[in-house]
Amino acid sequence: MKLLIVGARSKTVEAVLRLLRRRRSSWEVLLLSHRWAEPMNIHGYPVHVIPAYDRQPLRNACLSWEPEVILNAAALTDVDACEQERNLAWRVNVGIVEVLAGVCRILGSHLLQLSSDYVFDGNAGPYPETARPSPLNYYGRTKLAAENLCLAAAPSVTILRTTQIYGTPAPWAEDVLRWALARVRRGEHIPAAVDVFTNPIFVDDLARALLCAAEHREEGIFHVAGDMWLSRYEFLRRAFQAAGLDASVLIPLPAEELYRGRAPRPLRSGLCCERARQRWRFVPTPFEEALPLALYRNQAAGSSGEITL
Ligand SMILES: NC(=O)c1ccc[n+]([C@@H]2O[C@H](COP(=O)([O-])OP(=O)(O)OC[C@H]3O[C@@H](n4cnc5c(N)ncnc54)[C@H](OP(=O)(O)O)[C@@H]3O)[C@@H](O)[C@H]2O)c1
Repeated sequence: MKLLIVGARSKTVEAVLRLLRRRRSSWEVLLLSHRWAEPMNIHGYPVHVIPAYDRQPLRNACLSWEPEVILNAAALTDVDACEQERNLAWRVNVGIVEVLAGVCRILGSHLLQLSSDYVFDGNAGPYPETARPSPLNYYGRTKLAAENLCLAAAPSVTILRTTQIYGTPAPWAEDVLRWALARVRRGEHIPAAVDVFTNPIFVDDLARALLCAAEHREEGIFHVAGDMWLSRYEFLRRAFQAAGLDASVLIPLPAEELYRGRAPRPLRSGLCCERARQRWRFVPTPFEEALPLALYRNQAAGSSGEITL
């Protein structure tokens, strides 16, 4: 099978490629990125650059390679940046999808689009696939617009919605645990929301689900998430406990205070994964097992940037 991947340096794609390599997969992969940067080769797969994912070069690259499946993992995922830089957020989160859906229409390829529990307002999570989206912030609006575009324009599409991703070993990508551990090492305190809930997903579980989706090419919306629904604060408290760190460096705050002047966050978010469990036998790694592995991966690495919890 020919799999074209957009968003090569995302944490999600690193996990997908690691899994393909571990399975000794015979799939042909074409990896696209929007800029020249390290690494230019991920787990033996070379990265090809389409500067800024300009529409025509992106379209040409896809059309000339004729993939059976296109996985789009590219997105501006910083929720506050999306609120401030709306044109850029729309261009990346929706514009790329428009090109890919058009390519899929011409080639008859399957589109695999990643989406988010931020398409919901957070009043009644965790949400099943049948729940009605109602995004609170601009990031969520772009992700919902991309979903609707895929469903309307691509001939065959899987939309895979997921939750907060953690546990990447990729030093070039951001990870919430790595960021928090680095701050603690610097002696800093970490404000964390006590009333923002989701069920975070271990990045390896997301990769497994994506390969299932690529193999089955099943139509429609699927939810994949972790097995533990908890607040941002509780997530980090448990991580610190597991790492043997003093959790008193965490400052529990209500979202109203923590996100004042920033993009609003859905409070009771998260996803129910019944459909993925039934169709793909998707079962997430238990949180208690995934957390130590994620912490181990992050022990040696430094933080790659600022993250707002
Ligand atoms: N992170 C989460 O917790 C989370 C939660 C729910 C859903 N999701 C969704 O899951 C997908 C993957 O998320 P992720 O966290 O794995 O992604 P990520 O690590 O934040 O990486 C996103 C990728 O998008 C591309 N990108 C970023 N800024 C760009 C720009 N200005 N112009 C063009 N391309 C740009 C980059 O890939 P290249 O450099 O290779 O082009 C980047 O590596 C996204 O669709 C996201 O919305 C993420």
